[in-house]
Amino acid sequence: MPSTKASVKKIKKQKADLAVIKPVKTKPYNDIDLNNWKLYENIKTGTWWEFASRDKSRGHSYDYHGNYIPQIATQLFERYTKKNDIVLDLFFGSGTSGIEAKNMQRRCIGVELKQEMVDYVSSKFNPKELVVDVNIIQGDSASVEAKEKVQARLEIMGEKHAQFLVLHPPYDDIIKFSDKKEDLSNCATTEEFYDLFKKVAKNGYDLLEQNRFAALIIGDKYANSRYISLGFECQRRMEELGFVTKAVIVKNITGNEKAKGKTANLWRYRALSGGFNIFEHEYIMIFQKTKLKKVKNDK
Ligand SMILES: C[S@@+](CC[C@H](N)C(=O)[O-])C[C@H]1O[C@@H](n2cnc3c(N)ncnc32)[C@H](O)[C@@H]1O
Repeated sequence: MPSTKASVKKIKKQKADLAVIKPVKTKPYNDIDLNNWKLYENIKTGTWWEFASRDKSRGHSYDYHGNYIPQIATQLFERYTKKNDIVLDLFFGSGTSGIEAKNMQRRCIGVELKQEMVDYVSSKFNPKELVVDVNIIQGDSASVEAKEKVQARLEIMGEKHAQFLVLHPPYDDIIKFSDKKEDLSNCATTEEFYDLFKKVAKNGYDLLEQNRFAALIIGDKYANSRYISLGFECQRRMEELGFVTKAVIVKNITGNEKAKGKTANLWRYRALSGGFNIFEHEYIMIFQKTKLKKVKNDK
């Protein structure tokens, strides 16, 4: 067909458009196209995360006192996982990580101590999803047995390691989850809590692929009229295991607590009379399993 002036012009324009389309550029640990980084306005890159309220859509609900808000999982999985990656959550609770992993076409393995929670969370998925997408294990995440069970599930899913680790432990004894001696919320002392936490984190370290990321979600507490930095103490133990801290994010908790309004005045009175401040935040700490480059002042 003879080409008209108009069609030649159109072809030239198409060629010019193609020339400016850049190839997709991603890191090995996510699907963010760095050549189009301006499009990802939804991804938080700051150290202060504020959410007005809890997301209760797409399978999520506030059905477990102590579950984390799904927006944390959404942010973390987009930033630190690729499609089809396996998220390992060693304090699975009500399965927020599993639900969001499925929503975002990731896979998940969750370990939870309480059998009744394992049964309850299993009912949130259909039988096929429970094999292909979300594997749930009842066990003590600090134990060798739980580690071996995770390894067996990874093998069934065609992987040697998980690609992202979520640790959302009890905040010591702030919420008591069970009477079991293996339960991190049931430790006789806070030192024992740190010891058990480190054992779980060690299993997580061994099960995580090299150069991949982990998130620790944790808050601090008051006891015996003093402030106890659970977050920074657990961060130190993660570092002792070989994790490298990449970020310490402070997140508001005011939007995700039930019935806060009813006791607000009482807490304000207690704060004023006791010389302390009321918790409005918790931490999301990001770590990478990687070798630190030596810098000048390192020993
Ligand atoms: C803060 S909650 C996690 C909530 C979860 N992120 C969610 O969104 O539902 C901590 C969970 O850890 C569980 N847990 C405590 N000790 C454990 C252990 N040794 N091994 C496995 N799970 C444990 C508790 O039963 C509780 O469900």
